[in-house]
Amino acid sequence: MRKFIAAANWKMNCTKEQAKTLAEDLLAVSHTLDKRHRVILAVPYPYLIMVHDIVHSNEYYSVAAQNMHHEKFGAYTGEVSAPMLKSIGVEYVILGHSERREQHGETNALIRQKIDLAMEYGIKPIFCCGEPLEVRERGEQNEYVMNQLQESLFHLDGAHMKKVVIAYEPIWAIGTGKTATIDQAQEMHFMIRSKLIKQYDENVANSVSILYGGSVKADNAEALFNCPSVDGGLVGGASLIAADFEKIIEGLKR
Ligand code: 13P
Repeated sequence: MRKFIAAANWKMNCTKEQAKTLAEDLLAVSHTLDKRHRVILAVPYPYLIMVHDIVHSNEYYSVAAQNMHHEKFGAYTGEVSAPMLKSIGVEYVILGHSERREQHGETNALIRQKIDLAMEYGIKPIFCCGEPLEVRERGEQNEYVMNQLQESLFHLDGAHMKKVVIAYEPIWAIGTGKTATIDQAQEMHFMIRSKLIKQYDENVANSVSILYGGSVKADNAEALFNCPSVDGGLVGGASLIAADFEKIIEGLKR
């Protein structure tokens, strides 16, 4: 059965000291968690080992990288590979975040390559999808997101698909303070799960956690997470404030 997940995407924030304090503070809410829950901290590369060391003795916490390269090794100055992440105990990797798609020209095809590499190394992808504002305004968000899933994920067999976490992050809601409504989130998440059932089966579809991302805050998380098809959140800004992210963790379904 799928997990309910609170995932923090720290993006390019925090000094080493801030990262250490934040990770240590977040462990304080671990008593509210049980086997159905997971807290994932997607931290900048330089802090992966440190944060992994801080949280790894707690069974409900994991670290994630925010990206990885699509080749295994080689002359790619400044890049980080799947085998490197595997060798330091990283369990998850965010792939296809809209900031990487927009700022680094990542395509569905490139993200597919990264998905395959993550699978090869046993790192679970947190696959991000979501439409820009103009697509939402045209009412074409369902087709847009379906195409992202089709081109980057649906070549996987069921056993591999079960290892994927999907994060629906409408681009117009990221860092804007404009959250998708409960109805908008529920509709998209329901559609994604329905496609998983069609493409695979109920068993696979019920194993994949589908997170919502985009201006999740301490005061709206619980309502979003209470949508029947929403299994938690991928959180940017609010994950940098321990008290706020703790509240978001507490908002996970019980
Ligand atoms: P915000 O929570 O800051 O809107 O960011 C969402 C996001 O991009 C998480 O990956």
